[in-house]
Amino acid sequence: MDRVLTLELVRATEEAAVRAGRMMGIGDGGAAHHLAVAGMHQELTAAPVNGHVVIGEGYMADGQVLFDGEEIGRGTVPVDIAVASLDGQRLVAQGQPGAVSVLAMAGRGDILRVPDMYMEKICVGPRALGRIDLNQSVQENLRHIAEGLERSIDDVTVAILDRQRHQDLIRECRIAGARIRLIHDGDVTAAADAAIEGSGTHVLMGIGGAREGVLAAAALRCLGGDMQARLIPYTERERQKGEELGIHDFKRILTLSNLVRGDDCFFAATAVTPTPLMQGVRYFGGGARTMSVVMRYKTGTIRFIDTVHRLNASSHWSVRK
Ligand code: FBP
Repeated sequence: MDRVLTLELVRATEEAAVRAGRMMGIGDGGAAHHLAVAGMHQELTAAPVNGHVVIGEGYMADGQVLFDGEEIGRGTVPVDIAVASLDGQRLVAQGQPGAVSVLAMAGRGDILRVPDMYMEKICVGPRALGRIDLNQSVQENLRHIAEGLERSIDDVTVAILDRQRHQDLIRECRIAGARIRLIHDGDVTAAADAAIEGSGTHVLMGIGGAREGVLAAAALRCLGGDMQARLIPYTERERQKGEELGIHDFKRILTLSNLVRGDDCFFAATAVTPTPLMQGVRYFGGGARTMSVVMRYKTGTIRFIDTVHRLNASSHWSVRK
């Protein structure tokens, strides 16, 4: 895959972010999501790839744009595409930090297809590579991660979604002595942050969306980090959906390369609201400014891109509808 594709990815996440960002604090996450999906879809339709959406925004039967299985793009390079046009709808609705637009791309067949269900995850950066094991206790994992980071556990910060289901996990982290960053939503960014020095986060732990987990895996693959995951079907329907996609052993631990494989992996994210490493979308008379990150596995390059977008007559994000 050509490296110029990195810019195509960023165009798509930027467009989604500038549209969704208009809805910040308006209290309607669904509307923000709708705008983000439309922006992402518009840019991917024009992208120079022969794209197959493996993780989309829903199902064709529901009339969803960017549905699972959609063929998209106007090029010939065959790629798998995974999107979360807006990760953190509630964050945008409430004007809170941490919402991003996310896109991953890899060779055909290289991104695991998972249904909309939950996933247990542990995500770390390169210095803790090979030191995580979902079968071990939280304390054991934290001890090994701290060793990799050459620091004591009380200098390790764990990001955890602030959910009732994480009460035991939070207690165990506290017993181990780690610091905790509770996040309201948006565990893709938190997972990627764990692999970027200076973000202030060293690990993401807990249960979040499976599809967000695959997107996080793409980022961690590019960043040289590590991840283990396990799907958690709560309902018979979720189990069936998984089996339709060829998943039969739900107890199996999925490693990073089970989630995303191959040499051609790209990941891009644009901040809608601020993240620890990026400013959210800022609007000014006549335009907007965005911050994005784009990564490529093959070269290991991580680019932070600061873009000024000039408003023109065809901009869909100029007026809130
Ligand atoms: P949405 O923006 O689609 O609501 O997803 C946000 C998110 O926080 C994800 O980042 C995370 O994986 C998932 O929701 C957690 O699910 P839940 O809110 O059900 O705990």
